Amino acid sequence: MEIVPLSDAVGAEIRGVDLRESLSAKTFDQIEKAFHDFAIVLLRDQDITLEQQKIFALKFGELGSRNRPGTKPNELDEYGEHVMLVTNVRENGKPIGSLPDGEMTFHADTAYFEFPSKATMLYAMELPTWGGNTLFSNCYTAAEHLPENLKRRLDGQKAMQVYEYGTTLKTKERYDRKNFPHYAHPVFREHPASGRSALFVSELMTEEIIGIPKAESDEILQKLFTHQKKSQFVYEHEWRVGDLVMWDNRCTIHARTDFPRDQRRMLRRLTIQDNNPVVEGAVPYAQAAAE
Ligand code: OGA
Ligand code: MN
Repeated sequence: MEIVPLSDAVGAEIRGVDLRESLSAKTFDQIEKAFHDFAIVLLRDQDITLEQQKIFALKFGELGSRNRPGTKPNELDEYGEHVMLVTNVRENGKPIGSLPDGEMTFHADTAYFEFPSKATMLYAMELPTWGGNTLFSNCYTAAEHLPENLKRRLDGQKAMQVYEYGTTLKTKERYDRKNFPHYAHPVFREHPASGRSALFVSELMTEEIIGIPKAESDEILQKLFTHQKKSQFVYEHEWRVGDLVMWDNRCTIHARTDFPRDQRRMLRRLTIQDNNPVVEGAVPYAQAAAE
């Protein structure tokens, strides 16, 4: 197996692994280590069934459900609760999957829940001739490179994460909390495997920094969003059919570039549930779910 960095910013390609075959414990350990070291892993030229994708995903933890309270259940769905088709393909004018068209602003998946997904895995099946690239920004190095005064101002603070179901910029300043899933998480989130601190905010979902006056909070958030987009933190993935990409949702954010509406794009998506609470010492997911 070979591990080749995808950029100076984030991510690595893992070569020499065929996900149709069962992985030895040693191979999996190397993949998991690369996932922790690089936050995003890419395996190219995979030709896998949903079942094979699930077997690989399950090595990282339980599959996340995409129909948790507050998310919109997908109506035309033959795949069950764990699989999401990220696609603009339509039947009778209706998208057969989720996140169909165009650009998406930077976000971490399900940051607005108490237990955001640990990781998301996309497998590329059909792609347009241009665009639809996925951008990944490294939240560790973004945190490390903040000015010291801003680090101090934000240390120990929480930010409110809200989802208004859109995929581009938030349209409102504030939301009626009853109608939108939301949760306040630490601005700096410690990663349980690496021990490193990641800047856990994003332009699509972060509404305010709790306890900081609105005008100042807005100003700081704008600075953070601009900071996160700097090229030194960002890797832009140009998809090829057969690519399997898994990103660590605890220490990266991602976005998508525009692509033609009239060309098919289809990626098969699974998420990994996070059983560790975001804040050390809080109630773990399995226990919270049982209560
Ligand atoms: C996602 C997502 C981006 C893409 O599946 O969570 O943000 O490139 N997808 O489709
Ligand atoms: Mn996403």
